[in-house]
Amino acid sequence: MTNKTEHIIDDDRLQGVLIDSEAIHTRIVSLAQEIKDAYAGEKSVCLMGVLKGASIFVSDLIRELRSVGMRGLRLDFVRASTYQSSMKGAGEKTRKVKISGMTCDNVEGCSILLVDDILDQGFTLSALKDHFLNELKAKSVKTCVFLEKKLESPSPEVLELRKHFKADFRGFEVNDRWVVGYGLDVGEEFRDLPYVALAREECFR
Ligand code: IMP
Ligand code: MG
Repeated sequence: MTNKTEHIIDDDRLQGVLIDSEAIHTRIVSLAQEIKDAYAGEKSVCLMGVLKGASIFVSDLIRELRSVGMRGLRLDFVRASTYQSSMKGAGEKTRKVKISGMTCDNVEGCSILLVDDILDQGFTLSALKDHFLNELKAKSVKTCVFLEKKLESPSPEVLELRKHFKADFRGFEVNDRWVVGYGLDVGEEFRDLPYVALAREECFR
């Protein structure tokens, strides 16, 4: 990954910059074009940001979508959590996803683009997609993630889930390490970094 922009890492708990702000911007511009093309002919699309991790990504993405000429955009948010402040453990089979509120009352018949920070084991986004399609009766649900993890040793259950559940759009693929910045946190820290950095996992366990 390119690392042209100089970012100063001033925290010993971070290992280095993985994706710099310039690379993020460049990728979001091309991602916006992909999304616009995929929704050709659609009058209105609701970007549903998943709080809190996707708040920064969705804010940049929606403005880029306008820049590439997409219109009829709505922005709403849903709150979902699985990990709170703890990192995932080895060989996890499943995690309960808590969906705890949405900023609009009704999405029945709407075209929803779920926007999340990262697709890791896939529990969060697959539960949200199911919720919007089957319980809230959206017309369609596509998914867009800023990052997607290439899992190292998933349990058979997670492997199966990830085989069947794919994000429709993704910014970058990253290795199976804990990453922070650009909305992603560890214990609520580092969401404010303008780049993506690798966390020293031993400092947070
Ligand atoms: P999944 O349900 O396993 O796909 O996990 C997705 C959620 O876990 C994301 O929405 C993030 O909030 C969190 N998460 C997973 N990996 C990371 C990471 O490396 N950094 C920060 N948050 C992460
Ligand atoms: Mg999240």
